[in-house]
Amino acid sequence: EKEGYDHYMMKEIHEQPETFRRVMTGRLHEDAVTFKEFTLTDEQIQNWQHIDIVACGTAYHSGLVGKSILEETLQLPVNVEVASEFRYRNPRLDAHSLVILISQSGETADTLEALREAKQRGATTIAITNVVGSAISREADQVLYLWAGPEISVASTKAYTAMLIALYLLAFYLGDRAGRFNLADHKDLLEALAKLPDQAESLLTEAKKEEIRQHSQALIDADHLFYIGRGSDWAVAQEGALKIKEISYIHAEAYAAGELKHGTLALVTDGTPFVAIALQEKTFEKTLSNVNEVVARKGRVLCLLKEGHDKISDDLDKRIFIPDCLDMVAPILAAIPLQLLAYYTAEARGCDIDQPRNLAKSVTVE
Ligand code: M6R
Repeated sequence: EKEGYDHYMMKEIHEQPETFRRVMTGRLHEDAVTFKEFTLTDEQIQNWQHIDIVACGTAYHSGLVGKSILEETLQLPVNVEVASEFRYRNPRLDAHSLVILISQSGETADTLEALREAKQRGATTIAITNVVGSAISREADQVLYLWAGPEISVASTKAYTAMLIALYLLAFYLGDRAGRFNLADHKDLLEALAKLPDQAESLLTEAKKEEIRQHSQALIDADHLFYIGRGSDWAVAQEGALKIKEISYIHAEAYAAGELKHGTLALVTDGTPFVAIALQEKTFEKTLSNVNEVVARKGRVLCLLKEGHDKISDDLDKRIFIPDCLDMVAPILAAIPLQLLAYYTAEARGCDIDQPRNLAKSVTVE
């Protein structure tokens, strides 16, 4: 069943070009996004005043990226929260609330309870999930399926990137229907999504994988590792750090790059390893200056950059490039090298990649 791959995780990483196509099929069009499965009225959509995105783990990280896009297209405040916090804090919800629950399995106990709480308080609920007929899919008002196929490896890969694409499609669709984001004026965004499957292929060639495997060799003896970035790059950093912790058992911390000098920089000494994500034009120079602060203290930095954005200084010779793309979609492509980096690090450390210690694929206890 692993189709020649050593682990399900690698098989699932490789399935991403195909899962990208599947989540977009029938929904993404040249100048529109449609969701035939939804039964939302315009009135309902226009009535929302705030949005909560609730999820756990990797699904939560997808929500962090989705937040800024939804804020842009719906022009509403969006709160993203882990389900185990959200459900215990008496969230302010009413008929003007939209709550988006994200869960690959559709069975995560805290996310399910958050959904029940949200419904009880009168919010509209939309579930983004991969498993047809799962508890969350049965109980949510509206369901957006990822159609990513079964994900066996405990570490989520293809479901995460499908969640990101689903959130973008949802944000475009709802913004357009609310009359606050005219999609016909933003064909470039739709084109950028349509290009993703081919761009993902280019990140999965043997040569590209070997390049990332080589970079992983510098991490295998690390005790601690930092992932830094700003904005959506920070969200990407959080997912990158979780992936490497989960399967390679190296402690990794994701940090907002601009926060380093507020304390954490004190930890940087000769050889402290960093992974820096610098994919957003808006914050590129700022992140670069944070990278330089780390290098000045002899930290070692591996940079994730977009092709063509190589104005970064030459002494930073450790770089991984993703294909040039609109900044908005960069988090989707960035996920792939970070998944591979975690995979190869774990492999070199002899870890049980598909079944990391202490973890279950689906967390059905609270
Ligand atoms: O099935 P779910 O998406 O609700 O699962 C949520 C988390 O348990 C899950 O994403 C977990 O963090 C993964 N093992 C991360 O790779």
